[in-house]
Amino acid sequence: MPEQIVFLNDEFLPLSQAKVSVLDRGFVFGDGVYEVIPAYGGQLFRIDEHLRRLQDSLDAIRLPNPHDRSQWLAILNRLLTQHGGDDQSVYLQLTRGVAPRDHAFPKHIQPTVFAMANRMEPTDPQYLQQGIAAVSLPDSRWQHCNIKGISLLAGVLLRQQAEDQQAMEAILIRDGQVTEGAASNIFIVEQGVIKTPPKGQHLLPGITRDLLVELAQQNQLAVSETTVSEQALLAADEIWLSSSGRELLPVTTLNHRPVGTGKPGPLWQTMYTLFQACKAQLRKPA
Ligand SMILES: Cc1ncc(COP(=O)(O)O)c(C=O)c1O
Repeated sequence: MPEQIVFLNDEFLPLSQAKVSVLDRGFVFGDGVYEVIPAYGGQLFRIDEHLRRLQDSLDAIRLPNPHDRSQWLAILNRLLTQHGGDDQSVYLQLTRGVAPRDHAFPKHIQPTVFAMANRMEPTDPQYLQQGIAAVSLPDSRWQHCNIKGISLLAGVLLRQQAEDQQAMEAILIRDGQVTEGAASNIFIVEQGVIKTPPKGQHLLPGITRDLLVELAQQNQLAVSETTVSEQALLAADEIWLSSSGRELLPVTTLNHRPVGTGKPGPLWQTMYTLFQACKAQLRKPA
């Protein structure tokens, strides 16, 4: 198999030749932002929303965007061609570039830009049939979780704490309220109403989350972007998590106890079907 081609600083090159300096501020400080964009049937999913969020993250860290929309599309689509029409996940990352180590921004910035496309594995059917386990943990992250920053140490530690308890995700609680998962957004169902915490500085504005809210509204399902207390989480009839990589998964065990009936719930099933229909739409040739 030919070696995977990736994009680094205006060049397309084999992965093994893509090298970054040890003085890169991404390596030294975690000073950068990223995006993960799914592609179904070779088509980028919700690309405008992803590029808008990328711009918001760049603005928040005061890093100029080196590429416009058409340049990004050209880069990402070229990476996608390697894997044909398979479902893929594009990872792209920008850092504040290479400079002598000093916390303050360097005077002359040449950002490091990296992107790669990888095949996306289909979801394990067991997760869909039986659901997954999660644990609730205190949200120990910083105050700017709306920025999709590469400094992910707190998220890494939280997710590992969940894994250590045989759970696939940590559902995070700040001041008695659910914020999100360590790498996902959270939905609950309470008395037939779908609820998800409102956007703000304590959670990432998930592209999948926004799509699910839109789909629920379009299909006349009761959905509310509202605070979700820890008590409401513990008493929820259904809990779901959403992300570009894991789509929409039912959480059927929370803190080692069953959620609702302990099986994926009916509203999860409805939303999952709507989400799959949305993906199928994209795969259809124009
Ligand atoms: C902390 C966090 N929240 C939410 C999400 C979901 O965002 P999206 O649906 O855009 O993938 C992610 C995705 O990785 C994440 O890391």
